[in-house]
Amino acid sequence: MHSALNWLEERTGFRELMHEALYERIPGGARWRYVWGSTLVFTFTIQMMTGFFLWMAYAPSTQTAWESVYYIEHVMQYGWLVRGLHHFTAQAMIVLMALHLMQVIIDGAYKAPREVNFWLGLILMLIVLGLSLTGYLLPWDQKGYWATQVATNIAGGTPVVGAEVQKLAAGGPAYGHHTLTRFFALHAGLLPLLLIAFLALHIWCFRRHGITVPNPNRAPEAFFWPDQVLKDAVACLAILAAVLAMVFWQGAELGAPANPSENYSAARPEWYFLFLFEMLKYFPGKYEVVGAMVIPGLVMGVLFLMPLTAKIRGGHRLNIGFISVLLAACLTLTIIAIRKDRNNTGYKAAVEQAHKDATRVVELAQSPNGIGPTGALALLKADAYTQGPRLFAKNCATCHRHNGKDGMGKDILQTVNGVEQAVDGTASDLGNFGTREWIKAVITDFPKLFGPTEKAGFQGKLLGKHFTEGSMAEWSKTHGVKLKVEDLNAITEFLVAQSGRELTPPLDPKLVEKGKEFFQDGNDEISESCAQCHAMHAKGDAQTLDGGGNGPDLTGYGSAKWLTSFVNSPGAKEHYGKRNRMPAFEKRMNAEELRLLVDWMQGNWYKPKAAPAPQGAGIPQEVPAPKAGH
Ligand code: HEC
Ligand code: HEC
Repeated sequence: MHSALNWLEERTGFRELMHEALYERIPGGARWRYVWGSTLVFTFTIQMMTGFFLWMAYAPSTQTAWESVYYIEHVMQYGWLVRGLHHFTAQAMIVLMALHLMQVIIDGAYKAPREVNFWLGLILMLIVLGLSLTGYLLPWDQKGYWATQVATNIAGGTPVVGAEVQKLAAGGPAYGHHTLTRFFALHAGLLPLLLIAFLALHIWCFRRHGITVPNPNRAPEAFFWPDQVLKDAVACLAILAAVLAMVFWQGAELGAPANPSENYSAARPEWYFLFLFEMLKYFPGKYEVVGAMVIPGLVMGVLFLMPLTAKIRGGHRLNIGFISVLLAACLTLTIIAIRKDRNNTGYKAAVEQAHKDATRVVELAQSPNGIGPTGALALLKADAYTQGPRLFAKNCATCHRHNGKDGMGKDILQTVNGVEQAVDGTASDLGNFGTREWIKAVITDFPKLFGPTEKAGFQGKLLGKHFTEGSMAEWSKTHGVKLKVEDLNAITEFLVAQSGRELTPPLDPKLVEKGKEFFQDGNDEISESCAQCHAMHAKGDAQTLDGGGNGPDLTGYGSAKWLTSFVNSPGAKEHYGKRNRMPAFEKRMNAEELRLLVDWMQGNWYKPKAAPAPQGAGIPQEVPAPKAGH
C-alpha cells in the first residue's frame, strides 16, 4: 500500500496537494460562521448527482416532459426520492446563498484584496438563480408553465430590445416546445458548466487569500482539518436531514400537465421569487420595467460596487445596512404576497382545482389504459370528471346551479352596492339531477324545484310563473304531496329505471313494476295519472304509455340520451315545446363537450378502486328508499 502511494506521489505530487487542501490555516480557529461556503459546495454536489439521475429518465419535449417526470415520480424506483432531493436542495441553496452573502458582507470579506472573489460570488448567485428559473419549467406542469410564461413576458418588457430578448428566452416567437428544449439545454448544460467554472475560480481565489477573520486574536490558530471540516460536515448533514424531512413530509409536487388552452389563475413563481412577483404589482403596465429591470439592476449594481464603496469612510457600515434592508424588504414582500394569497378566495379555489387535476391525472395515468400515445393532457381532456364541471360552469351556471355553486365549487358572484355577493340561479339546481331525490322533488315539490325560474329577467316575468303555477306544479300540490310513501317510492323507482344510471342502492324490479302501473293508471284515490299528460316509451316495453297530454315526453327521462337531446334542443316538441326558455346548445357545444358534460352529470366517469370524492360535491350518494308505510 505504502509503496503504491509513493509511486503515485512521485507521478502526481498528490500528497502536497492533499496537504495544501487540508491544512489551510485558519487564524482565530474554526468557527460555525465559516460553514456556508462548504454547505453550498455540498448542496451543489447533490444537485449534480441527483440531476444526473433525473436526466437519465427525463425527455424534454412538450409531448413527453410531464410524462417522463410522472414516470420518475410514480414508477421509477426511488425516483420520488431523487426528484425530491433535487427539488428541495435547490431551495436550500437559495437560503444558503443568502446566508453566505450576509456573512461575507458582515465579516467584510468582500474588501480588498478579495474584490474579484466577491464579484465571482455574485455571478455564481445569478447562475444559481438561473438554474432555479429554468428548472421550474422542466416538469411542464401547469404551475411551471404559467409561471415561466409570466417570466418570459417580463423579459419581453425590456425597453427597445424586449421582443428580441423574449424571442431569445422563449426560443422563438411562441412560448412552447422550443422554450422547453432551450431551458433544458441551459439547465443541464450551459449553466452547470458555468457554475463549475466560476466555482473553481471562486475557490481558487478564496484559497489564495484565505479566510477573512474579523478578530484573529481571540483564539489560537487552527487548521482546516480536522476542526473546520468537522463543523462543515455537521452543517452539511443537518441540511441533508432538513431536505430529507421535506421530501418525506411533502414530496416534490407535480401539477397537472401544462394546458396552454386553459386560463390558469393559480400561477405563482417559487417562493423565493415571490418578493419579485409582489413588487411587480406596484409597477403596473408600462412601469413594469421599473420593477422588473431597473430596481433589480440597481440592487445588483450596488452589490457589485460594494468592494469599492467599502473604501469610503463609513462605507462598510452602509453596506451592512444595505444588505440588511434588502433582505428585510424581500422577506416583507414575501410575507405580504403569501398573506394576500391566503385571503384570496379565487386564488385558493384555483389552487384547489389545480390539486384536484394533479391527483386526477395520476389516477387516470394509473388506470388500466394508462397514458396513451397522445399523452397525459389528452387523458384530462377526455375525462368527464375533469371537464364536466368546467363545461357546466362555462355554459350552464349562468342560469343553473350545481348544489348551490357553479359546478366547480365556486359561488357565482355579483357586485351589489360595492359588495360581492353570491347570487341565486334563474333555473333549477341540477346538483342531483336525475337521482331519486330529484324525482321525488319533481313529484312532491315541483314549485320549489322550479322556483328559481321565476327570478329570470324579462323573460322570467313573462314566462316564469308558467312552471311554478303550471299543470305539473298543480299536480304536485294537489296529489304529489299526499302520495303514500310506497307509491312515491314506486313511481320514483320507475322513473329512475328509465335513466339507466348506475345506482346505489340498485334498482328494485318489484317497485319499478308497481311504479309503472301507477304512472299509467294512477291508483284508487288519484285518477289523474302521469300518463294522462306524459307520453313515455318505458324501457323494455313494446308499446308507448300515452295519455296524449301536454306534458313533456318522458321516454328515457334522465338518461344520457335524453339529457343530450334536451340540452341540444330543449324547445323540441317532446321536451318543453313552446314553453321553453332555455337556449338550445346544439350549436353552442360540440358533441364531445356535450358527452363530457352529460357523463359528468350522470356520475359516469372512470373510478379507481377507491373512488374520488365527486367534484364540487358532484352527484350525491343516493339514500336508500325508506320502508313503505306511514
Ligand atoms: C339561459 C338560462 C339557461 C342556461 C344557460 C341553461 N339552462 Fe337549462 N334550463 C333553463 C330553464 C329556464 C329551464 C326550465 C325549463 C325550460 O325553460 O326549458 C331549464 C331546464 C333544464 C333541464 C331540465 C330540468 C329542469 O330543471 O327542467 C336540464 C336538464 C337543463 N336545463 C340542463 C342544462 C344544462 C346541462 C345547461 C348547460 C349546458 C343548461 N341547462 C343551460 C335555463 C337555462
Ligand atoms: C296534468 C298533466 C300532468 C300530470 C298529471 C303529470 N305531469 Fe309531469 N309535467 C306536466 C307538464 C306540463 C310538465 C312541464 C312543466 C310545466 O309546464 O308545468 C311536467 C313536467 C314533469 C317533469 C319534469 C320534466 C323535466 O324536463 O325535468 C317530470 C319528471 C314529470 N313531469 C313527471 C311526472 C310524473 C312522474 C307524473 C305522475 C306522478 C306527472 N309528471 C304527472 C304535466 C303533468
